[in-house]
Amino acid sequence: MPDSPPSIVPSKEPSLLNNWMSFLGIILAICSFIAVLALFGIDFIRGFTSPYTAVITYVLIPGGLITGLLLVVVGAWNERRCRHIAAKRCPPPLPHIDLSISSHRNTLIAVLVISFSFLLFSFLGTYRLYHFTESVHFCGLLCHSVMKPEYTLYKRSPHARVPCTECHVGPGASFFVKSKISGAYQIYATIAEKYPHPIPTPVKNLRPARETCEQCHWPQKFSGSVERIRTHFGMTENNDPWTIRLLLKVGGGDPSRVPVGGIHWHMSPETRVEYIATKDDRQEIPWVKVIHPDGSATIYQSRGKELKADTISKASPRLMDCIDCHNRPTHIYSTPDKAMDDALLFGRIDQSIPFIKKNGVQALVESGETSKTESEGLENVKKKLMADYAGYRDKNKILSAISEIQRIFRENFFPEMKASWKKFPDNIGHSIWPGCVRCHDGEHVSSDGKKISHDCNTCHIIISQGSGVETKSISPEGLTFDHPGGEISLEFLCSDCHKGALVE
Ligand code: HEC
Ligand code: HEC
Ligand code: HEC
Ligand code: HEC
Ligand code: HEC
Ligand code: HEC
Repeated sequence: MPDSPPSIVPSKEPSLLNNWMSFLGIILAICSFIAVLALFGIDFIRGFTSPYTAVITYVLIPGGLITGLLLVVVGAWNERRCRHIAAKRCPPPLPHIDLSISSHRNTLIAVLVISFSFLLFSFLGTYRLYHFTESVHFCGLLCHSVMKPEYTLYKRSPHARVPCTECHVGPGASFFVKSKISGAYQIYATIAEKYPHPIPTPVKNLRPARETCEQCHWPQKFSGSVERIRTHFGMTENNDPWTIRLLLKVGGGDPSRVPVGGIHWHMSPETRVEYIATKDDRQEIPWVKVIHPDGSATIYQSRGKELKADTISKASPRLMDCIDCHNRPTHIYSTPDKAMDDALLFGRIDQSIPFIKKNGVQALVESGETSKTESEGLENVKKKLMADYAGYRDKNKILSAISEIQRIFRENFFPEMKASWKKFPDNIGHSIWPGCVRCHDGEHVSSDGKKISHDCNTCHIIISQGSGVETKSISPEGLTFDHPGGEISLEFLCSDCHKGALVE
């Protein structure tokens, strides 16, 4: 009778992993691992900014991986426990596979084929998922309330077809880590509702324009003079129109072929303009330095606001780029003034309604200030205008004007996020925000008495202005500005009085 000493048996005892729970755990872990690898690879090569892709890559799928591994361990532990407690019957182990039996072989091949297809599909699936989460729709729509202002404005901007990531991340690996860190914070902020209202301008995190805007635009392009025509309507009973035609000397140029000049001179590759701003919003610029092509430098300081020597030595001056002027290339809030002007100009609001410019602007401003939600804002716009025009005969005209003004509200005021034109300076001109005259106010002087020009013809010439027949002819040599609101001293900046709504 052969002895069967129990000490030899363990080598034949099936592995502790031989149970259903561990088996499922292993499958889950392998699939998650492949998905993580795939997404991580894509992220590294292409980079993604959507916090949702980040959630999936760095939270959800690793969660699956950990759950899988836990299942393996718990399954094994369970198996071990029940093997040691004789009283308890273990669940049936995994079937034993013997490759010499043809039915086993076929089953195994079928299982392998199915698993392989599954892995392939999970890889393709993750790739599709990546594309979906990176898409503009996903970005703008899923963070619906958070990104609503930016997305709404973006959709009607000249860059509506440029994906968010082109400007906010750009290509390459160096911004990869940075965007991951801020992405992780965004997830936390969104979940914890910790995000500020409105979302602040990413002045510090925004990638330098040289690496984003210049993927598509290049500063050497010579634009010449660009004509801009603006029609304004007065706050008068007849909403009197007034039109101005300007030739903006955008200029530009490639220094190796033609001299560089005009507004895009600041971007000339041979010249550097640097500045120090007092605050993060960059609205006050007391110190400007120009480094000329020959290496010499001129420093301009704002008269009466000169910085102390140690403030200058501690500050790190910013090199001027596209964003210092074009800071609203896509998230362009219309001011109540401009939105009403456009609606009147294009006939979406009837110009014959008395004081409609003034009342419309007022309705927008007041509702913007008092409303907590969009629907409340729309209701307030309507209430105010219905009261203003209670005695007006042509009800249809008023109703259609009201629905247009409500549309303006919906597209430019976001009470839930406390966002409107007031919160976001636009630096391109100088009529509503200081913009160009942050430096070109005629008060920035160098040590040898040179000024950054405030001359009205430095940047544009006015070729026509006025109402009616005056706008039919042009003067190529340029006109002096004839302020429609009465004579003003040019010592005032336009933005001292004009703030995008009723003159204050
Ligand atoms: C053409 C380039 C461009 C594109 C495309 C773009 N942005 Fe921006 N975005 C900017 C710039 C520039 C700023 C900073 C503005 C400033 O400095 O005043 C900004 C600012 C923001 C801000 C901060 C709030 C603000 O208005 O300053 C958010 C949020 C934002 N963008 C989200 C998005 C989303 C979401 C998309 C896609 C739907 C998008 N952006 C597409 C250039 C772009
Ligand atoms: C992916 C390419 C791309 C990127 C990146 C890009 N733009 Fe543009 N931009 C365009 C195109 C295309 C147009 C022309 C749109 C049209 O005319 O319909 C345009 C138009 C413009 C205009 C003229 C707008 C107008 O009112 O006609 C300005 C100014 C501008 N871009 C500035 C910028 C700035 C500043 C940045 C960086 C923050 C930037 N762009 C990034 C593609 C791009
Ligand atoms: C000093 C301010 C300033 C800087 C810096 C600047 N721009 Fe401009 N740019 C302007 C102004 C002003 C206009 C014309 C105003 C308008 O479009 O209403 C303009 C016009 C444009 C246009 C439209 C030209 C056309 O033919 O219609 C594009 C595109 C443009 N800029 C791109 C850029 C890019 C890209 C950069 C960075 C390399 C840049 N700008 C830097 C002020 C600036
Ligand atoms: C950060 C300060 C700063 C800002 C902001 C700024 N500029 Fe300038 N600009 C300068 C300096 C400095 C010079 C050169 C002065 C000199 O050396 O003569 C200059 C020169 C110019 C010139 C003359 C270029 C030539 O042909 O020599 C034009 C035109 C001009 N700026 C237009 C603009 C416009 C338009 C804006 C707003 C969209 C603007 N600038 C915003 C600092 C600035
Ligand atoms: C540093 C450059 C610069 C200087 C100096 C300058 N402007 Fe302008 N101005 C601009 C730019 C840029 C715009 C166009 C902004 C835009 O695209 O709406 C503009 C727009 C205007 C407009 C049209 C505003 C509108 O919305 O209808 C008027 C009027 C105007 N400027 C008058 C003046 C007068 C008057 C002076 C002299 C006191 C002056 N500007 C000096 C750059 C300048
Ligand atoms: C001292 C305050 C003050 C200054 C500075 C000033 N404005 Fe005005 N502006 C007014 C007033 C008041 C009106 C009349 C309001 C009305 O009836 O529409 C007006 C009307 C206008 C209008 C006609 C329609 C409208 O209301 O938009 C334009 C365009 C205009 N100003 C442009 C400018 C420009 C450009 C500058 C800078 C060069 C400037 N203003 C500087 C006070 C000012």
